[in-house]
Amino acid sequence: MLRVGLIGCGSIGSVVARELSQGAVDGVELTAVFDLVVDHPLRVQDMDSLLSCSDLVVEAAGHEALRNYGMAVREAGADLLVVSIGALADEDLEADLKKAEGGRLLLCTGAIGGFDILRAAMLLGPLDEVAITSTKPAAALSRPWMDGAVREALARGSAPVTVFDGPARQACALFPESANVTATLSLATVGFDRVRVQMAGDPAAVRVRHVVTASGRAGAYELSFENAASPGNPRTSAVAAYSVLRAIGDRRAPSVSFL
Ligand SMILES: NC(=O)c1ccc[n+]([C@@H]2O[C@H](COP(=O)([O-])OP(=O)(O)OC[C@H]3O[C@@H](n4cnc5c(N)ncnc54)[C@H](O)[C@@H]3O)[C@@H](O)[C@H]2O)c1
Repeated sequence: MLRVGLIGCGSIGSVVARELSQGAVDGVELTAVFDLVVDHPLRVQDMDSLLSCSDLVVEAAGHEALRNYGMAVREAGADLLVVSIGALADEDLEADLKKAEGGRLLLCTGAIGGFDILRAAMLLGPLDEVAITSTKPAAALSRPWMDGAVREALARGSAPVTVFDGPARQACALFPESANVTATLSLATVGFDRVRVQMAGDPAAVRVRHVVTASGRAGAYELSFENAASPGNPRTSAVAAYSVLRAIGDRRAPSVSFL
């Protein structure tokens, strides 16, 4: 049995906890849940308790939680499956987590995918351009620090509003809850400073749409994703929780695997 501990039991974590408890992934047992707020029958009060019964720890709690507990997980010898990938736009955290010895650092693909083909392409030759355009329901992108006119257009306008155009590292800093996919794309391909991100709020959008484009010697790629929002959190795509379950299932190394 693979023993899984969970940090964060919110929109993503609660689905992961429910599905694992119902036996959704063969050979996997949910052993502990650590959340500062949310209660759960397997809730533990501290990380030591979680680590004492986990072979793999899923972080689904946010940037601060990854910063606070990530190193301890790896150093305790457990694999760490990171969901708050945007936190790795912090170069120091990325370097520390990568060099820690112990369990493996596993980066959940989350709400998008296609990294397998892009990484294969990079083996043939460098990717010259990698970009992602994310269009979200307007309300999900409004932030207190934005210009009043931009917030007004997001709240009451009828046309899409571009709220960001720049490198992934900056997108992750400005939109920590909404730029995880740009971080995953960056880590999988040409890095946070070379992936171009455009983000727009669309008053008519119900789903979140991501379009990834990349080109290089291997060819040109365009991958698009349209995700329904999680019922519990309009900033999180519902599929992200199932991406965690898929990753845990693959970690079990079945005899047939998509690698
Ligand atoms: N990789 C992706 O594609 C992707 C997609 C969506 C969301 N995310 C990220 O996944 C994370 C979880 O998303 P969510 O929608 O479930 O969030 P959420 O806010 O619904 O849930 C987070 C939970 O973690 C708990 N928590 C927060 N800080 C904690 C801490 N320090 N210690 C213990 N518990 C803590 C909260 O109480 C809450 O229950 C976020 O960082 C989000 O940005 C990633």
